[in-house]
Amino acid sequence: MATTRKRVLSGMRPTGRLHIGHYFGALENWLKLQEQYDCYYFVADWHALTTDYADTLQVAQHRIEIVTDWLAVGLDPQKCTLFVQSWVPAHAELHLLLSMITPLGWLERVPTYKEQLEQLKDRDLHTYGFLGYPLLQTADIVLYDADFVPVGEDQVPHVELAREIVRRFNVNFGLEVKDELFHPENEAKLTAVLRNIPLKLRPQPGTLASELPSFYRRMIRSYVAEVGYENFLHELTRERPEAEFKRVLAGRPEEFLVQRQVLKEPDALLTEVPRLPGTDGRKMSKSYNNVIWLSESDDSIREKVRGMMTDPQRIRRSDPGRPEVCPVFAWHKLFSTPETIAWADRECRVAGIGCVDCKMAMVEGLIRWIEPIRARRQQYEAQPERVREILEEGSSKARQVTQETMGRVRQAVFGSEAKKVVAPQSGAVSQS
Ligand code: TRP
Ligand code: SF4
Repeated sequence: MATTRKRVLSGMRPTGRLHIGHYFGALENWLKLQEQYDCYYFVADWHALTTDYADTLQVAQHRIEIVTDWLAVGLDPQKCTLFVQSWVPAHAELHLLLSMITPLGWLERVPTYKEQLEQLKDRDLHTYGFLGYPLLQTADIVLYDADFVPVGEDQVPHVELAREIVRRFNVNFGLEVKDELFHPENEAKLTAVLRNIPLKLRPQPGTLASELPSFYRRMIRSYVAEVGYENFLHELTRERPEAEFKRVLAGRPEEFLVQRQVLKEPDALLTEVPRLPGTDGRKMSKSYNNVIWLSESDDSIREKVRGMMTDPQRIRRSDPGRPEVCPVFAWHKLFSTPETIAWADRECRVAGIGCVDCKMAMVEGLIRWIEPIRARRQQYEAQPERVREILEEGSSKARQVTQETMGRVRQAVFGSEAKKVVAPQSGAVSQS
């Protein structure tokens, strides 16, 4: 049943039409996952602003383009939920709340932060939004209680960060320290709870008695945030020489300390992707002008393949080649039949074929592969309202899911005040 399936979440920035590199880098995997999991795939349009705020004219167009490509490759709105991030405002609300508890150092330490600052020298990325991008991504993930996030190696630190932030949030807002712990009859128990907490966290001499409960609460929280709830409980209840310790708490600190899992820790789902170099042998990327679009015409595909780089040491027809370094051969492995792959592998090494023959054999497989995708793309291109409708339905469903999560979150952050949440009213005066 749909309700028992584990949930997967992933997003992509709207950078325009997609190419075959996107297919093998992500979409092929998304297609498999939609058969097995409750998948939420979204257009990360707010993420696009973190690096491209200076150039937003095309975002609206790109949203539709990217989803047209998703549908073209076979993502099925009956099987997965497709939505737009900026149409689900809870992403921004949770991002804000998470920002309150996220240490700057955690964000500065994300490996892609410094790398990208270096790489994207043409833009001013010394912004709050750019630094906070992994935090927005955390909000994206945990809003849906996602079990898994399919990622490549380079994104694993992002999922790790999400897990750390979830733990910190749950302790800060989900750890309830009951009032009874501070009642005079429970003094021995309070002493037992506080016992392991380092002295540096203790109250200053002269702290008013009336302020002690709130002081102790903060102290317990910050300690639990540091060591983790499970470790904290373990410290409290394990066997130790001072057996009175265990006795005092009757082995049940949970009576006074309740940890709620307000947010859920996601796991990375590491995905192996096949190597698909661009036509020039470098990484396939729009900015290198070495891509084949999912919407590319046969003529244009043929022309691009004709111009592809091959083994640079194969200069004359009579030179034997090395398929393992040749981008054409890497493509054969994805688009050709096993017989054709074996043929190219064998004949290249003995100079039995020329590179033109080899490319012509490969391009036929590529065209056969791209045909149905391109045809389906044309169908959706002809009805952009349908694409928009799919996104609207998906976003509406996404909003429902996030309302549940945000109910828990608001309750945890503001306690009973959360119950007074007002529904947005039309004509309400906004105060600024
Ligand atoms: N990080 C991805 C990118 O910048 C897109 C993304 C945003 C994402 N939020 C996500 C991926 C959450 C997985 C999960 O292109
Ligand atoms: Fe590459 Fe094929 Fe030429 Fe060998 S014959 S170098 S595999 S294009």
